[in-house]
Amino acid sequence: MKFFLDTANIEEIREANATGLLDGVTTNPSLIKKSGRDFFEVITEIASEVEGPVSAETVSHDHETMLKEGLKCAKIADNIAVKVPLTLDGLKTCKALRAEGIMVNVTLCFSANQALLAAKAGASFISPFVGRHDDVGFDGMELIEDIRTIYDNYGFGTEILVASVRHPVHVLESARIGADVATFPWDVMKKLFNHPLTVNGLAGFDKDWAATGFSIL
Ligand code: G3P
Repeated sequence: MKFFLDTANIEEIREANATGLLDGVTTNPSLIKKSGRDFFEVITEIASEVEGPVSAETVSHDHETMLKEGLKCAKIADNIAVKVPLTLDGLKTCKALRAEGIMVNVTLCFSANQALLAAKAGASFISPFVGRHDDVGFDGMELIEDIRTIYDNYGFGTEILVASVRHPVHVLESARIGADVATFPWDVMKKLFNHPLTVNGLAGFDKDWAATGFSIL
C-alpha cells in the first residue's frame, strides 16, 4: 500500500520524505489555507520535493472553469494529480482531464455509487473520506470494502486512496481491505512506527549490551 502525506506543510513533507517511505502528497483548499502560503508557490515546492503524485485541488464548481483550473494546475509539474470534487461537473472535468493524460484524484467521496461513477469517468484515484464518514455514524471502512469489491468486480484501474485518515487503525484496516493508497497527516504516520513493547525491548537490549562492555565500532 502506498503512503501519501495529507498536508501542505513543506517541513513535515521533508521529514516524512527523509524516511524513504513516502509515495506522494495530497492537499486541499483547507490544507493550503493552513500552510499560510501562496497556492502555486507551495504546490511547486511540494512537487519538486517528492517524486510521487501531488494532489492540487480545483476550487470552482462549474465544469468549464474547473477544467481551466485543472489544466493550469497540471502545468505546475509532471507529478501533479488534479483534484476535483465528486459532483456531476467534477466528473465531466475528470473525464476531460484524463483525455489529456492528466492524473485526476476525485475527492469528497462518501458512497460506493459515487466511487463507481468516478471509476467510469476514468479517475486515477478516488478519495473516500473515512474519518468524516465515521463522524456522522457510518462505518468508513465498510465504504472502502464496498469500493474494493466493486472495482475488483469490473477490473477498474482507479486507485482507492483512503482519505480523512485519523489514526493507525484506519491505516491497518485499509491495508487489510487492499486499498491502494492511504493519505494521512504526519502525526498519524509517526504513530505507525511506535509500539511500547518495541521501546521496552530496546531499553532491555541497551541495558544488557552496556553490561557486556563490548562495542561494535
Ligand atoms: O484529504 C482529506 C483530508 O484532508 C480530510 O481530513 O480529517 O479533515 O476529514 P479530515
